[in-house]
Amino acid sequence: MRVDYDELEKVICALTEGETDAVALMATLACEIHHADDRFDWTGFYRVVAPELLKIGPYQGGHGCLVIPFARGVCGAAARTGEVQLVEDVDAFPGHIACASSTRSEIVLPVRNGAGEVIAVLDIDSDRPAAFDAADSEGLSRILGKVFANVG
Ligand code: SME
Repeated sequence: MRVDYDELEKVICALTEGETDAVALMATLACEIHHADDRFDWTGFYRVVAPELLKIGPYQGGHGCLVIPFARGVCGAAARTGEVQLVEDVDAFPGHIACASSTRSEIVLPVRNGAGEVIAVLDIDSDRPAAFDAADSEGLSRILGKVFANVG
């Protein structure tokens, strides 16, 4: 089934109301987002743990690589630019990091705290080519903005 982002937003906001711990929020979102749509094979966060460095956070799906410098991968590009990365064909993305050989397309979104700082990225992989579109970017960005608005 394809996710209804209005419904997903209601569920997530109810589950996370009043929570400001980033890891608790990430764990909840990784679970709820992953199970909302069968396009999503891997759903998880990479946290900014040092300048120009990401480390894995809560996720759902097969094991993911532990460390990603901002200079590498789709996740690094999202963290570096602060822009959503919508990748229709991962094999065409220079420096894509393949955690699973089955991945065909990917979306990675920056996660900002209340001060507007990029504190993490949300990465979703699919085994389907061109699985993601503007509706996913808009729906997920809206949820991330609401959920992490009160994180310090
Ligand atoms: N594909 C990502 C790496 C994370 S694994 O997909 C979980 C990237 O290129 O940054």
